[in-house]
Amino acid sequence: MKLLFPLLALVSLASALVKTPTVAFEEVDGGLKLGGAGIAPAIRLDSKDSPGVIRAAQDLAVDFERITGTKGSVNTDGKTESNAAVIIVGTIGKSTLIDNLVSSGKLDVSAIQGKWESFVSALIEDPIQGVSKALVIAGSDRRGAIFGIYDLSEQIGVSPWWWWADVTFKTKPAIYALPKVAVSGPPSIKYRGIFLNDEQPALTNWVNQFYPRASTGGPGFNANFHARVFELLLRLKANYFWPTMWDGQFYLDDTKNGPLAEEYGIVMGTSHTEPLARSTKEQSRFCPNWDWSRNQNNVKNFMKDGVTRSKNWETLYTLGMRGNGDEASPTLNAQSLEAVIAYQQSTLQSVLGQNDLSKIPQMWCLYKEVGNYFATGMKVPDTITLLWADDNVGNMMRLPTASERNRVGGAGVYYHFDYVGSPRNYKWINSIQLSKTWEQMNLAYERSARNIWIVNVGDLKPLELPINHFLDMAYDITAFKSPSSTDEWLKTWATREFGSSVSARTQEAMATYGKLIIRRKYEQLNNQPYAHSVTNFDEALRVLDEWTALANKTQAIYDSLDAATKPSFFEIVHHPAIAGKTVQEIYAKAALNQLYARQKRQSANKLAADVRAAFTRDQDITKQYHALLGGKWNHMMDQIHLGYNNWQDPGSNTLPGLASVSGTDGNGLMGISVQGSDASLPGGSVPTMNALTPYTGSWDRRYINLYVRGSGSYTYNIKANVDYVTVNPSSGTLSNQDDIKAYISIDWTRAPKGASTATFTITGASKTVTLSLPLSNVEVPSTFTKGHIESAGYVSMEAGHPFSLSTASNGATYQVIPNYGRTHSGLVLTTRTFPSALTTSTAPKASYKFYTFSTGSPRITIYVSMMFNTDPTQRASYAYSIDGGNPVTVSPVQVTTLGNMPSGWDAAVNQQAWVHTANVNVNGGLKVGEHTVDFWALAGEVVLQKIVVDVKGNAVGSSYMGPGESTMVGFE
Ligand SMILES: *[C@@H]1O[C@H](CO)[C@@H](O)[C@H](O)[C@H]1NC(C)=O
Repeated sequence: MKLLFPLLALVSLASALVKTPTVAFEEVDGGLKLGGAGIAPAIRLDSKDSPGVIRAAQDLAVDFERITGTKGSVNTDGKTESNAAVIIVGTIGKSTLIDNLVSSGKLDVSAIQGKWESFVSALIEDPIQGVSKALVIAGSDRRGAIFGIYDLSEQIGVSPWWWWADVTFKTKPAIYALPKVAVSGPPSIKYRGIFLNDEQPALTNWVNQFYPRASTGGPGFNANFHARVFELLLRLKANYFWPTMWDGQFYLDDTKNGPLAEEYGIVMGTSHTEPLARSTKEQSRFCPNWDWSRNQNNVKNFMKDGVTRSKNWETLYTLGMRGNGDEASPTLNAQSLEAVIAYQQSTLQSVLGQNDLSKIPQMWCLYKEVGNYFATGMKVPDTITLLWADDNVGNMMRLPTASERNRVGGAGVYYHFDYVGSPRNYKWINSIQLSKTWEQMNLAYERSARNIWIVNVGDLKPLELPINHFLDMAYDITAFKSPSSTDEWLKTWATREFGSSVSARTQEAMATYGKLIIRRKYEQLNNQPYAHSVTNFDEALRVLDEWTALANKTQAIYDSLDAATKPSFFEIVHHPAIAGKTVQEIYAKAALNQLYARQKRQSANKLAADVRAAFTRDQDITKQYHALLGGKWNHMMDQIHLGYNNWQDPGSNTLPGLASVSGTDGNGLMGISVQGSDASLPGGSVPTMNALTPYTGSWDRRYINLYVRGSGSYTYNIKANVDYVTVNPSSGTLSNQDDIKAYISIDWTRAPKGASTATFTITGASKTVTLSLPLSNVEVPSTFTKGHIESAGYVSMEAGHPFSLSTASNGATYQVIPNYGRTHSGLVLTTRTFPSALTTSTAPKASYKFYTFSTGSPRITIYVSMMFNTDPTQRASYAYSIDGGNPVTVSPVQVTTLGNMPSGWDAAVNQQAWVHTANVNVNGGLKVGEHTVDFWALAGEVVLQKIVVDVKGNAVGSSYMGPGESTMVGFE
């Protein structure tokens, strides 16, 4: 054992998302060669072990073949070929092989015995007669053993996504078991799973092609399809599944479905609206009068039949009742719902023959109107898990309060990565920011919602990454304590799927993708008006540039990959980047087209052509996806995603309105605009350009934009009145759709100190235009060592760049969540649960320092993440003050009864932020010099993203995300 550590440093270990590697690819002292060319393990099990364990062992045998070329064997008859390496797998209490190892003292299972879904893996000498050494994987229960098996599969180089996302097998000449013991489990969340939902068109069309239902036609959500899903779930160490329900009847579409789930070891559920293991479609077929008050006996029998049918299969029963087809019931109230649940519980007891309700997994989902009944005092038996829902767009609306944390049935989370409904469907491709999932699930866990995590994943396929992340958090949240865990996880994940040579760049790309997509979902974009400003801060073009840079980056990674790795990288990383960029291009350029057309720019026609080309490219990208690997994923991108104008998806992809320009403008051929204004010159009043200082951010360039307002050409000339101001280009000839930006730069070493004005005289097409640019050659005193510096009348500070963070007497302070939110980062409390509401004296303080050269009555804008009052006894509030003034408390979220949306929810959820703008009373106004904004999060939900101080109160024009970050000193 002494040699182990020096040796370990040299061997290449398995790179998987598992915590303790038990496998290496080079020989180790005291190790065991499990596989290689011509050698493969004999996997020994007890024939009386669970079928699911034996089945998973068969996958492991094949996995060895995938990696080494030599298939393992599975053996349940006790006879072993002499020369194979032996892997012993089994469930404690079910496998004589394992139980003998335990009773003989060779295997220590004390760390897992009696625990939920845990396993121990150990290399053991003389485990059974004739075998000198074996790798032993013992599960505390059947899924513990199955997870142990798949853990090994993942370590040797088989991704859980090998089939669903075509991740290549990382072939190896040899595989060795390390002489070490690894313990895993119990999982952080007891029931962890996915909900296949909103499955038309993409998933259904794909299923109908590849898993058609035999002879009768109809939906093909058959056992072969579910075998693929169940294997994926188990490889991801998940255990819980809600089947499709738009048109699906899991237990009837294929009568093999129910037994198959049991064989695999999957805990079946039904969606929140489908009580007692029967689908919505069964309700309408067999109990069309779905009304408790008027048709009680039939409803009761219908429900009871669901329990009878599933009684021999592991099931987590959905309780409660809603109306027809995922809608509120017009006749149910709190009292009758209590009666429904009483009947359901007594039926479970009698049919399952189990009087102890705490031993029957049951949940009740407080979704939409259902929450109302609870809020108005409905009594819910303690044995039922309360499943709390998000707002369908990733923001938890409610979590257990202090008095709800000791329920026997505990609590859980119903979360969404896909949704059909208001304010707008999102069911096309991945639109999830992983760090947001981290932030919300971290809060849910801290608030004791730990019994169930179920996430709506739509068609499954385009959401590989967020699904994997969510389920990994649910399996072992201890690996996700730090806010930087998302980036670390992404890198490890990218290494597993695509290899270490591209993992850092892939992590960066997907962290960027999360930042770009949380700003606004694809379906929420349109150009009437496009959400981003087409003038102020060049927001529209800067956003499009970010997408272009991302697509360029994933293209470069894609190009560097070998042919076998390309499909998986395309599916999970490159496709969302290029497909997303194309949608952004359509809307951003369509919005600019409208502005340019008003300005009579010929280049408006070029933008229209670009938009049409992007629209065609969008279709081509869909075709490229569908053509992958001989059409394996045909139809998976069938979802219409362009041209939404209400919550429901439109019938076809449509282009936004595009304007065209013809003829010559009355004010002449030469057209001029300046940064930050929609004026077109000559003609109309001449705007003053935004001021420039040495501290103006590099993202915020000043330019003179020249274009052609008619047919023909002209030669322009730009002259600055002083020689320390240059403009590039300063002359040229423009014709037709030419549209150029002449960028201005200042030699500040030569410019006069303090305020001055530069003027530009632009001549062309027999016209002259004069523009002035205010300059302010200022210098921050050397005593200002850390903070942001004002320019052009405002300062913009990202949450991740505080001057200082205090620690409160309760021990709480702040942590920065990198790559979080819409622009840069988030600032969140380290502890997110408090016995009573925080105040500015009990909360820690985050201070942001800035230096200003302008003066005035300031106006502040504070951007915090979308959130709810998840604890009705403690509002999600924050407070701020400038220069030690009286703190102003803000509670952005209206208090509502559970199930009712707070006012402003639509706008806030679309932009995934609560934005607060107010004048701040500073005695005598802000003076030149150093200032501080203090910020206090008064609740665990609050995540600060950005603070903008408009020093003059009117310097910041409107935009979607506010100005980019100001220049800083004292930060890395
Ligand atoms: C993206 O790549 C194109 C083609 O190489 C290049 O012209 C463009 O400048 C790049 N854009 C960004 C924002 O990186």
